[in-house]
Amino acid sequence: MAKEINTIGVLTSGGDAPGMNAAIRAVVRTALAQGKKVKGIMRGYQGLIDEEIIDMDKHSVSDIIQKGGTILGTARCDDFRTPEGQQRGAEVCRKYGIDGLVVIGGDGSFQGAQKLAHLGVNTIGIPGTIDLDIACTDYTIGFDTAVNTAMEAIDKVRDTSTSHERCSIIEVMGRHAGYIALWCGLANGAEDILLPERYNHDEQKIINHIIDSRKLGKKHHLIINAEGIGHSSSMAKRIEAATGMETRATILGHMQRGGSPSCKDRVYASIMGAYAVDALCEGKSSRVVAYKKGEYIDIDIDEALAMSKDISEYEYNISKVLAR
Ligand code: ADP
Ligand code: F6P
Repeated sequence: MAKEINTIGVLTSGGDAPGMNAAIRAVVRTALAQGKKVKGIMRGYQGLIDEEIIDMDKHSVSDIIQKGGTILGTARCDDFRTPEGQQRGAEVCRKYGIDGLVVIGGDGSFQGAQKLAHLGVNTIGIPGTIDLDIACTDYTIGFDTAVNTAMEAIDKVRDTSTSHERCSIIEVMGRHAGYIALWCGLANGAEDILLPERYNHDEQKIINHIIDSRKLGKKHHLIINAEGIGHSSSMAKRIEAATGMETRATILGHMQRGGSPSCKDRVYASIMGAYAVDALCEGKSSRVVAYKKGEYIDIDIDEALAMSKDISEYEYNISKVLAR
């Protein structure tokens, strides 16, 4: 029989995402409601190794559901990639009596959780990343707020692009994943969408598209470029030289990671946070909470990390048809 859980630890790791606070709140309040103690680990795996651990009560999570960022802080911790760092993390969990650990973060953070699970720490992951790039789940906390932030910013760039009859290259986040770019491309009616998963570096095709659109009387040309492709400023110079159309690059950057979470992010985060605690209390371990085909589920962490995900070809094709 699984050992009874008395103390639950919670940490946020990797890039922050709007809604992480709502998830922390749900973890803390659900655990307290079930008579468990809760420890907050500051600054992700770095804080675990450094024993930056605080006791949390219901007031620790008051007035945070509407706040962006993460009250626990987050970090990228290279030491935790080493076996020594992972051993240290597992020892600290034992020292503080943490017999269930909730890790809120992306794929990288789940790999850290997987290592801890293999060292005997009961772990459960909650998908928190603006990138939507975790294969086992249809939703990741933060994506909705981030795409809405980016969409609103791109609408503003569109206004001035139209007035000045310019081409605008707008770079959105997503080093390896083009979900933000694809969604903004669709939502903002962009003329071209460049995704790391699909772009073949055929700049001439974009140039021809701009020239053809100008002939048809289009007043602007919006190109959404994913961070993973990058080079927006030099691309703008080359496009301006080749088309004669004034071209500007705007890099939206970290603004996409901040701000008050949307309703969707707050609700998914609240349910996933509560689900994670329920799963631990039911004796589950080495799991990841996911949202799949309209349902909240949990998946074995090894299986979750072995899955892969790609942009939907159907959605990508629609984006191209609508842009013409
Ligand atoms: P995200 O969780 O958003 O994908 P990262 O990839 O930066 O962000 O990972 C966050 C942290 O998770 C890393 O800084 C590191 O501490 C830990 N981590 C990532 N990959 C591994 C791994 N293979 N083994 C152990 N820990 C890892
Ligand atoms: O994973 C979230 C994310 O915002 C990615 O879209 C981006 O590539 C990366 O984090 C940026 O990381 P940093 O905050 O270290 O610049």
